[in-house]
Amino acid sequence: MKKRVSSNIFLPIFFNIVFTLISPASSHATTTLTDHSQASFIKQRQLLDYREQFGYGSDDQFDDSVPSQLVFDNPRLKSAYIAFQAWKQAIISDPLNLTLNWVGSDVCNYTGVFCSPALDDPSIETVAGIDLNHGDLAGYLPEELGLLTDIALFHINSNRFCGTLPWSFQKLKLLFELDLSNNRFVGKFPYVVLRLPSLKFLDLRFNEFEGKIPKALFEKDLDAIFINHNRFASQLPDNIGNSPVSVIVLANNKFHGCLPMSIVNMSKTLNELILTNNGLRSCFPQEIGLLKNLTVLDVSNNKLVGQLPDSIGELVNLEQLNVAHNMLSGSIPERICSLPNLQNFSFDYNFFTGEPPVCLDLEIFDDSRNCFTGRPLQRSRLQYPPPPPSPPPCWQQSPPTPVQPSIPTPSPTYNGPLPPFKGVEYASPPPPPLY
Ligand SMILES: *[C@@H]1O[C@H](CO)[C@@H](O)[C@H](O)[C@H]1NC(C)=O
Ligand SMILES: *[C@@H]1O[C@H](CO)[C@@H](O)[C@H](O)[C@H]1NC(C)=O
Ligand SMILES: *[C@@H]1O[C@H](CO)[C@@H](O)[C@H](O)[C@H]1NC(C)=O
Ligand SMILES: *[C@@H]1O[C@H](CO)[C@@H](O)[C@H](O)[C@H]1NC(C)=O
Ligand SMILES: *[C@@H]1O[C@H](CO)[C@@H](O)[C@H](O)[C@H]1NC(C)=O
Repeated sequence: MKKRVSSNIFLPIFFNIVFTLISPASSHATTTLTDHSQASFIKQRQLLDYREQFGYGSDDQFDDSVPSQLVFDNPRLKSAYIAFQAWKQAIISDPLNLTLNWVGSDVCNYTGVFCSPALDDPSIETVAGIDLNHGDLAGYLPEELGLLTDIALFHINSNRFCGTLPWSFQKLKLLFELDLSNNRFVGKFPYVVLRLPSLKFLDLRFNEFEGKIPKALFEKDLDAIFINHNRFASQLPDNIGNSPVSVIVLANNKFHGCLPMSIVNMSKTLNELILTNNGLRSCFPQEIGLLKNLTVLDVSNNKLVGQLPDSIGELVNLEQLNVAHNMLSGSIPERICSLPNLQNFSFDYNFFTGEPPVCLDLEIFDDSRNCFTGRPLQRSRLQYPPPPPSPPPCWQQSPPTPVQPSIPTPSPTYNGPLPPFKGVEYASPPPPPLY
């Protein structure tokens, strides 16, 4: 019997899985390829293998490589066969024997492969999805995967794939969910994803991607962007607010600079904004209060200075608020602690001086390591110089460097759990806890 993915599976899966998004402390990769030369070597190997076998030409040339005794229900399954055989060759470790049955013409019966009627021709079955999550496979992604032109899902979460994403992925015009999380991919942002017209979910977290993230990412009609736990390092592009996503997780990278002004344009769609553990250094914009649909706001472990804007008290849907481990000062606005849905408010490790009594009524909050009088676990007087000066309202340009407090700054590696995620739920399971 063939496994099938019916076309309507693609919607309900979003609502099924409750997940804890980020397991702390990556460090999963012990033998990761980290530098550009190795990445480009693998890229070259991918291309070379591909050209050696198939040249540069059209898909017709693939026929030669398929044993003539194999019979396929339709040409697309034959192409899929070629793709899977190439992939199998590119897999150098398969401890769970997932690819053991990747033989013969019945590709729909291969482990991890899901078929369904083609969207443009329901009379034929084609490969619609790949799910090899938690497969522990090691190897790379060959260019031939571009032959899987009918796939909507590509999930290879929690494997040991290295190298880069092949350019041939641009042929995957139906690809809707791309989950490469918790692998060993390296190099620049995989620009080829920008060419996928149907893409909605992009999950690159827990890899070793580095460098800038392209502006064009925020012009795409995506629902969710997960790029946390990589090595991206740049200012946040100023067009970030053009993105229609409901969830954006940039945590645990090396982003720096300001929160771009444009995020106010995400007020109708944004549910979760997770920026924890980067190098963001600016004031907290007053206009943040426009993001009325936010349920989770986590800017902890950055270098934000100035006051906590009173306008956060307008975020009536807010459930999780984490501003801990910054250099914020002044008073906590009373309105914030009165928010009707607020479940957990962390503002420890800042330089706040004023704490309205209503904040002490919150069920879950953390006010430790501030400058409150009469509260436990505060900074000692000797430890704190005057809090850093508030910079002028800042959006686009970096504020003047605040005076560094002479106390030990918060640990730069944030190991605590991140809030549970409540908004859009996501089809793939998250990487397993890594500690
Ligand atoms: C995988 O296959 C090999 C050889 O057939 C076998 O020795 C091993 O036990 C298999 N591993 C699993 C996890 O099934
Ligand atoms: C599909 O695979 C199963 C085992 O994985 C096997 O028993 C079955 O015969 C296969 N079906 C076809 C049509 O090849
Ligand atoms: C918000 O979007 C509008 C319309 O696209 C644009 O004109 C405006 O510049 C954007 N605001 C910011 C702050 O980027
Ligand atoms: C945004 O919030 C409004 C009002 O709180 C609500 O009606 C709407 O459904 C929300 N939209 C999303 C995408 O969450
Ligand atoms: C509240 O949030 C903080 C920071 O995200 C987290 O460490 C803590 O575990 C949360 N508490 C509860 C009870 O969810």
